[in-house]
Amino acid sequence: MADAILQVTGLSVRYGKVEALHDGKLAVGAGQIVSVIGPNGAGKSTLLNAIMGALPFTGYAKGTVRYQGEDVSALAIEKRVSRGMCLVPEKRELFASMTVEDNLVLGAYRRKRAGERNFLDQLNHVFDSFPRLKERRKQAAGTLSGGERQMPPVGRALTGKPDLLMLDLALGWRR
Ligand SMILES: Nc1ncnc2c1ncn2[C@@H]1O[C@H](COP(=O)(O)OP(=O)(O)OP(=O)(O)O)[C@@H](O)[C@H]1O
Ligand SMILES: [Mg+2]
Repeated sequence: MADAILQVTGLSVRYGKVEALHDGKLAVGAGQIVSVIGPNGAGKSTLLNAIMGALPFTGYAKGTVRYQGEDVSALAIEKRVSRGMCLVPEKRELFASMTVEDNLVLGAYRRKRAGERNFLDQLNHVFDSFPRLKERRKQAAGTLSGGERQMPPVGRALTGKPDLLMLDLALGWRR
């Protein structure tokens, strides 16, 4: 794809002797929504974590991740974040003792540091998308219900206004 925002080629990941991903490739164009589907253990989270540079220390990746025309394969995760890449990991994390609102504001930290004056401009959009979070904005995030706890990590990603948003969704399968 000529104008791909993300271009992944020959991406293989090993955890010790186990090869979890073999020769992965993926291209995402600007404005595109791309789904990666597969059974449990197929390597979807491994693929996204490797693209983000967020593999556990036991994981070893080889291959190329090009983002906005730049080879970011060797860049640390914080450098990829500062370029506008964002991953909502499968295991949703939040800062339990901080308020819901502060959890969301944290997502805009990169934009604040980059000197954007309107770095909180996405907050109201997030509250529109997640009215439950708006209701509970002053509540400690650790007191949210199981389902509600899934919302701040997604909202936090959106306040960061990333150029590439990757969502690692854990779906329940019914047969
Ligand atoms: N840190 C690790 N150490 C060793 N093996 C791992 C590690 N992480 C993942 N694996 C293995 O790599 C394979 C791919 O795992 P991965 O989490 O990428 O799958 P997935 O497609 O995201 O699955 P699911 O749909 O269940 O989330 C699995 O067999 C898993 O057991
Ligand atoms: Mg997974």
